[in-house]
Amino acid sequence: MIGVKSLQVEGLFGYRFSVYRFNKNVQTVYVYQLGDTLIDTGQSHSRDEVVKNLSGHHIKKIILTHHHEDHSGNAGYLSKLWNIPVYGHPDTVKFLKNGMKLSPLAQYLTGNVDKVSIHKIEPNSLIDTGITKLQAIYTPGHSIDHYSYYSQEKGWLFSGDLYVADKIKYFADFESMKQQIESLKLLCSLDFDILLCSHNPKLKNGKQHLKNKLEDFEHFYGTVVDLYSKGYNIEAILKKTGRRENSVYNILTMGSFCATNMVKSVLKDEGLILKNKTKPIS
Ligand SMILES: [Fe+2]
Repeated sequence: MIGVKSLQVEGLFGYRFSVYRFNKNVQTVYVYQLGDTLIDTGQSHSRDEVVKNLSGHHIKKIILTHHHEDHSGNAGYLSKLWNIPVYGHPDTVKFLKNGMKLSPLAQYLTGNVDKVSIHKIEPNSLIDTGITKLQAIYTPGHSIDHYSYYSQEKGWLFSGDLYVADKIKYFADFESMKQQIESLKLLCSLDFDILLCSHNPKLKNGKQHLKNKLEDFEHFYGTVVDLYSKGYNIEAILKKTGRRENSVYNILTMGSFCATNMVKSVLKDEGLILKNKTKPIS
């Protein structure tokens, strides 16, 4: 595990925490400290590094972008250690009240999530960090409980996992492309340049990167709907879109993180297949 202070902008600090397995970086996640507020907490396997890098920084509260283990993995621990509250979306409150037991692979890569008592943040609430106020913007699609946090004053957007790259190759089975498109449109209507996402921050042209992802998703979505209406099946649609499966991911995740899920997401969002079914509705 390696933790590095890797980003600093006007009172904002970004810390990068990476998990290594067999000398390979298998997961990197960013934790941001803005004034007295910590945004996300990293994976539990990086706990020692998180504590080492962030203790003594006068952090008074934690806000979560969503419940996933690489963001919430240390929320309960840090809350107790520093005696500070944790805040998140109302569904994050529900998801984490008993902690999360993960698949063997996720436990190996990231670690489990302890139970944590979270206070609700209502959509569009303003959170004072001592440096600037952040608006909680509801941006579902990657997960149902996803908040992005926006400082209009600074032109900063903390976008959690809504942005990872301009072109996404694989989806988890819980993701919705339609919701992500709507969330991306909402965020692209804001005024910002610095995109502080959790895996691949962009210190300039942040909005352009979000627009690139939006454009790619809109094109993909339209293509899938069109091909389905012409009678192509899921496998053929995937081939036509130019996306390909990664056999290693497919095996390791038992098909729960794959390119086919992107096609299925569109068809589910359009009501053309049932949730978690591969066969079209006749
Ligand atoms: Fe996530």
